[in-house]
Amino acid sequence: MTNFAGFDSRGYRMVDVRTGYGRWVDTYEQTVEDAMDIGLLENLAEPSWATVHRAADLGCGTGRTGSWLRSRGVNGVDGVDLTPQMLAVARSKGAYEHLSEADVRESGLASGTYDLVIASLVDEHLPVLGPLYTEAWRLAVPGASFVLVAFHPHFIMATGMPTHFTSGSGEHVAITTHVHLISDHVAAGLGAGWRLVEMREGVVDERWLAVKPTWERFRGHPVSAVLVWRRPD
Ligand SMILES: C[S@@+](CC[C@H](N)C(=O)[O-])C[C@H]1O[C@@H](n2cnc3c(N)ncnc32)[C@H](O)[C@@H]1O
Repeated sequence: MTNFAGFDSRGYRMVDVRTGYGRWVDTYEQTVEDAMDIGLLENLAEPSWATVHRAADLGCGTGRTGSWLRSRGVNGVDGVDLTPQMLAVARSKGAYEHLSEADVRESGLASGTYDLVIASLVDEHLPVLGPLYTEAWRLAVPGASFVLVAFHPHFIMATGMPTHFTSGSGEHVAITTHVHLISDHVAAGLGAGWRLVEMREGVVDERWLAVKPTWERFRGHPVSAVLVWRRPD
């Protein structure tokens, strides 16, 4: 793990995950751009979403990913998240079969059940990656995919910007952020038994600049990444 503190150029007050997302929940969906995660998922060659029977969405938040999966024909989606207020929004969408308050590293979901495990924009909140990859492996059936979307470590380091939100009073508040290099992901995934089958990076492009004009100086920098892992049969 690379310590975020050495890159922090913002100095925002930092709060833990439950506190942060519990306060961000009301504006979360207006703040998170689909280019960050959905845009990457849409361009993946695999998995074949329509053939997925059961999916586990780890760190499901307000249910953006679950709703997108439903739109792709995935009907049996279960979700877990640490923040009750985020789960309440996910519940209101009706996109999930089961939702529970749990840690992604110890989800409480049934072993060997899911042919898709997905974790989107969650890993930067974990101090180390191994337990997430191991839990995804536990949940997966042979042949399953594990799709992980990450806030790109390069972007966190180059901008010195943690995951953060703006409170009702206008204060920028950071949520505990850790930096995981892409090689940390590769080591954790291979270490858990996964095989990497696809990886894509999203860069700051015209689509991004249309919504974040102040990011012009980051044009071309990678801002998010998606890794697709397969559990060998
Ligand atoms: C940036 S949001 C992403 C939510 C959703 N996946 C999406 O793409 O919109 C991060 C979510 O991860 C959850 N989270 C962070 N650390 C967690 C952990 N250790 N266990 C469970 N949920 C966690 C937070 O509560 C929050 O809802």
